[in-house]
Amino acid sequence: MQKNSSMITGLGYAVPEKVLTNFDLEKMVDTSDEWIRTRTGMSERHIADENTASSDLSTQAATIALAEAKLKPKQLDMIIVATVTPDTLFPATACYVQKNLGAVNAAAFDINAACSGFIYGLTMADAFIRSGFYKNILVIGAEILTKITDWTDRATCVLFGDGAGAAVVQPANGGSEILKTFIKSDGRLTDLLILPAGGSRIPATHESVDKRLHYLRMEGQEVFKYAVKAMGDAAIETLKSAGVSSDELALLIPHQANIRIIQATARRIKLPMEKVMVNVDRYGNTSAASIPIALTESIQQGRLKRGDYCLLVSFGGGFTMGAVLFKY
Ligand SMILES: CC(C)(COP(=O)(O)OP(=O)(O)OC[C@H]1O[C@@H](n2cnc3c(N)ncnc32)[C@H](O)[C@@H]1OP(=O)(O)O)[C@@H](O)C(=O)NCCC(=O)NCCS
Repeated sequence: MQKNSSMITGLGYAVPEKVLTNFDLEKMVDTSDEWIRTRTGMSERHIADENTASSDLSTQAATIALAEAKLKPKQLDMIIVATVTPDTLFPATACYVQKNLGAVNAAAFDINAACSGFIYGLTMADAFIRSGFYKNILVIGAEILTKITDWTDRATCVLFGDGAGAAVVQPANGGSEILKTFIKSDGRLTDLLILPAGGSRIPATHESVDKRLHYLRMEGQEVFKYAVKAMGDAAIETLKSAGVSSDELALLIPHQANIRIIQATARRIKLPMEKVMVNVDRYGNTSAASIPIALTESIQQGRLKRGDYCLLVSFGGGFTMGAVLFKY
């Protein structure tokens, strides 16, 4: 075991009840179930109602993760929420989660690394534990992307879903262990995937609303090209620096953006699809929530056994990329 390393001791996820299928979308925009399935691998996604915010799903996911870790909210030292759809621009969504949980002793803050947010959060938690500063850290990836989705834009509105996933990270005890983390960004690509208005560059005005600038915009094909390269690069870099070969991986859990991006990543590291977790068909792209939801489900489905190597890998707006290699 590495000195002061960390491990995931609890996991949980939450998705809204309402399901929006491709057939529902056919009635909303000029699209088809066949187009969406073949181009993205998606069949349905979960959609939050008007009263649900990111902190609500976060709190549900966190409650499950804390129970599995047998940790009381008051024992938490830190709460990190990765999200691009915070309840409010400030205070941080993590502070609402802190209030909901009664985690009165924690430092709570949000991070924004788009779809790589959970990987960035896990990397921070691992570093805080390795440094000896903190012991009990809650990392959440949560999104209500459907509230920044332009439901008149068929090129984007079919892609996204809502959800939250949470992990409790604590010092490793000789069994499970986070072995390697890797994060990197390329700020030259900020315009490819963006929510243009609502910040200090373009504050909310009647004009910004009329121009639909408060909805997510994306250059799909450019994002696709970057995604395939970034996920492959992050996976290869992380395996190489850990001295672990892809043959040794029991499971790859990639960000669930598109089945074709997932397949290309698997091909790049020469991994058969049987060793790749896929749930994009049922949830769509839930951004920062996608990896913790997929990780929780893969454990529930028995796809990871104790001692197995598992690689998490992501890309996202920014552009950001990252990977975490751990022994389960
Ligand atoms: C968005 C994405 C699925 C589009 O697939 P694509 O194969 O690149 O499709 P294109 O953008 O080339 O569009 C092909 C055609 O389908 C059309 N189209 C786009 N969305 C459509 C939809 N929902 N239904 C039907 N047709 C659609 C386009 O208008 C275009 O028509 P045209 O040829 O007449 O102009 C794909 O580019 C993608 O997944 N990109 C990455 C997105 C992503 O991962 N974002 C999240 C980042 S974390």
